[in-house]
Amino acid sequence: MATQNIYILAIESSCDDTAASVMLNGKILSNVVAGQSIHEAYGGVVPELASRAHQQNIVPVVQQALKRANVDKKQLSAIAFTRGPGLMGSLLVGTSFAKSMAYGLDIPLIDVNHMQAHILAHFIDEEGFNKPPFPFLAMTISGGHTQIVKVNSHFDMEVIGETIDDAVGEAFDKSGKILGLGYPAGPEIDKRAKLGNPKAYKFTKPKVEGLNFSFSGLKTAILYFIQKETKANPNFIEENLNDICASIQYTIIGILIDKLKLASKQTGINHIAIGGGVSANTGIRQALKDGEAKFGWTTYVPKFEFTTDNAAMIAIVGYLKFLDGDFAQQDITASSRLKI
Ligand code: KG4
Ligand code: ZN
Repeated sequence: MATQNIYILAIESSCDDTAASVMLNGKILSNVVAGQSIHEAYGGVVPELASRAHQQNIVPVVQQALKRANVDKKQLSAIAFTRGPGLMGSLLVGTSFAKSMAYGLDIPLIDVNHMQAHILAHFIDEEGFNKPPFPFLAMTISGGHTQIVKVNSHFDMEVIGETIDDAVGEAFDKSGKILGLGYPAGPEIDKRAKLGNPKAYKFTKPKVEGLNFSFSGLKTAILYFIQKETKANPNFIEENLNDICASIQYTIIGILIDKLKLASKQTGINHIAIGGGVSANTGIRQALKDGEAKFGWTTYVPKFEFTTDNAAMIAIVGYLKFLDGDFAQQDITASSRLKI
């Protein structure tokens, strides 16, 4: 059988990272991400500033991705882009850019759902990483999303649980803000949690029916706890920071694992994959590993650079859709609330 070389250029601009990636037949040749440090000063993403930064970054990021891959734009087979969900002003930059480039090169345009991409990142060809067999459960955990998805095939996915308020990454970031940590606080809490006692303080887990999540109550509980303790001892945070971080992380991981256990029990599926920025967390990675021995799970954690927002995950979806001949028309628009 003659093999065709399929080169995909993928563009991701749904939130505060401008990213581009070049893929050849399912393998990543380059994966470029330009973060936006401007938001740190505000303790969260400012949409207006994000879209402006995307507009500044998009051309250099795409040029870098092609250069690092050593691919000329004339070799490209198709352009894939994130259509949604995300911030409208941010999505519009990547969408318009991808449409123009595909039109200019006269090659197919492929729209990608960002949430599907976090899950399908597991299908990037990468040495040492196994692809989950269908059906499997995928838990996407990041600053913008928290979902449990039953994945029946590449493009047949069912959301069986999701957050009813904050995302799990927000739970980390907002707790960090209460403790005076920088944004995003997840990595810092993770680092400190390793040095602290996870059972030093007890926070009540939210009572949410079924497979849905809620994190806003936990944030309030932490706020009240800190207010009460610092009233009695103004140095409470600095004297106990590692223990506080360890206890918060322990509570959050407990919530995630409880729901995964329930999802696995309800569906009878033991193959469990995670994705999204929070899957970088050492505690959740360990808890999943423990789940293999404790609950008979087989777990899948993608390579770190494919878990946070990136364009490699957009490229793999682009490639899979290219194989299906599933292309977008030039009148397609960004969709900030796109569902899986
Ligand atoms: O996927 P991502 O880069 O962007 C989106 O939100 O879509 O995820 C960012 C989130 C932030 O909330 C950040 O605090 C969290 O992932 N995060 C972590 C860790 N690394 C990143 N949370 C806990 N532990 C970590 N090691
Ligand atoms: Zn994301």
